[in-house]
Formats: sequence, structure tokens, C-alpha cells
Amino acid sequence: MRPVTKLGVFGNPIEHSLSPRIHALFAQARQDHVEYQRYLTTPARFSKSVADFFVNGGQGANVTLPFKQQAAERVTQLTDRARLAGAVNTLIAGKSGQLLGDNTDGEGLVFDLKNKRFKVSGRSLALFGAGGSARGILPLLLAQQPKCLYLINRTAEKALALKSELTELGLAETNRVQVLSSASEIEEPVELVINATSSSLMGQALTLPGRLADDACGYDLMYANKPTLFMNQLSQAGCKKVSDGLGMLVEQAASSYQLWMGGERPDTTSVMSKLRKPI
Ligand code: ATR
Repeated sequence: MRPVTKLGVFGNPIEHSLSPRIHALFAQARQDHVEYQRYLTTPARFSKSVADFFVNGGQGANVTLPFKQQAAERVTQLTDRARLAGAVNTLIAGKSGQLLGDNTDGEGLVFDLKNKRFKVSGRSLALFGAGGSARGILPLLLAQQPKCLYLINRTAEKALALKSELTELGLAETNRVQVLSSASEIEEPVELVINATSSSLMGQALTLPGRLADDACGYDLMYANKPTLFMNQLSQAGCKKVSDGLGMLVEQAASSYQLWMGGERPDTTSVMSKLRKPI
């Protein structure tokens, strides 16, 4: 029998994480021998928890809230996209204690938008949020060449700082990314609206763009077993295609799995349909 690959996920809270189930389904489909466990830690203990895991044979791990930024500081090497995001969701063991940090969140979103046929290229986008989640997805979204991206954040200074960082890195030409403190300031019809804030988690409504295109799509990075508040808001505004972020979760997991295990990208379609069904 092939040896077991030890994987896991660090977060707080972590008990409801779907990642162990997703990775177990990938492993089952590919007949890999994988052990993937949840690890509850704290900001003070995070670095030691990660070190212990890798010293004890861990080969790869995911990092979720609230440790993604701390993980970016903890690793010995960052991929370009993780450096741009300033956040790490995937840790990969290297030689002689080296630890590589990557970020598969943006790739996960882009894969899921493609699955759902929500177009980015050439479209006008409104992205809510300028925190860690928005940072993770922005470089990949901009690489898809939207016509323009309105970056909306309650605290406009945070969005302005993020835009400056992206501009310095050559990712955001001045007129392609526009920072606003309210989506009501957008004059043109918006074709894709993405929520990367924690507003749905808090049960707080966002002010939507004044005009949505007839075929506008909406995506909430959050997911739950019922439509999120943001999805309901968009549906009420006439948006016919809305999605939560479960597909992104599965796709970012597939990217991480492939980084650890090599081989082909795991099939996500069957995993998605199994997750949508109650256990
Ligand atoms: P994450 O890693 O999930 O992005 P974060 O870095 O704390 O978490 O960022 C949270 C984001 O959600 C921020 O953009 C925050 O806006 P501020 O920068 O103004 O704080 C946004 N956010 C949280 N609650 C919100 C609400 N009720 N309405 C609008 N934006 C909200």
C-alpha cells in the first residue's frame, strides 16, 4: 500500500470546515491515500502549530480565516500570486524545513466563474471589499481583463491603498480600477457583482449598483445552506444568475490538492453535487 500523505487545515473556528470532506472525496476518486484533518489554533500559537504539523510528517496544509495574512509572514518562500495577495491559503512542505506559501483562492474563483459561465473578460465589474478575501482574488480577476472594475469599500482609504499597491505592481491601470465608497455612484450598468466582504455573515445589506445589466450575474464568496443576504438582494434587484461561493471553495481546494499530490486536477463536478446534498 502507498504511504499516507498527511494534509490538514488551520483555522479558527474550524469545526464546520468542509475542506476535510472535499479532500476526502478528491482522494477517493483518485485512489490516493490521504489523511486530512482540521487544526484549531490561535494567532499566538499559529506559527508553532504549523511547525509541529510539518515536523511530524505533514506534507501540505490549507490556511483559512483568520490566519491567511499571518501565514504569508510565516513561510520561507511565497509564490508571486500569494505575494500580491499578501495572503496564503496553501502551505507546501519544501526541502530542509522550507515552507512554500501559495494562494489558490483567486484561481478557485476564476474556475468557478467559468463553470457558471459568469464572464469577466470585457465586462464591467463591481467588487465589494478591500480585505484579505478581496486581495486574494483581485490579481486573478484583473488578469481576466475586465473592461473596468469598480472597487467598493465602506472604508474608501483601504480600497485606495489596495489600488495603489496593484498599480505599483502594474496590475491596475489607472482608469481600469475605480475606487468608490458606494456602489450607487456607478453610472454604467454593471455586468458582474462580486461580494468579498463579510457583510452576509453579519446579516448586513450592501448598497447595490444603481443599474444592473439585463444579463448581470452576482457572486457571493460566502456560502451557506440557503441563499445569502447578498444573493437575495441581487435577486430582488432583478439579477437572474446568482451564486454563492461553494464552487470557489471546491475549486480552490482542487488547486491546492493538485499542488500537493501532482497529477491531474481533481474532478470538481461530482464533489459539488455531493456537497449540495445533506449528509
Ligand atoms: P476578509 O479576510 O474576510 O476579507 P477582512 O480583511 O477583515 O476579512 O475584510 C473584511 C471586509 O469586509 C472589509 O472590506 C470590510 O470593510 P472595511 O474595510 O470598511 O472594514 C468589509 N465589511 C465587513 N462588514 C461589512 C459591512 N457590514 N458592510 C460593508 N462592508 C463590510
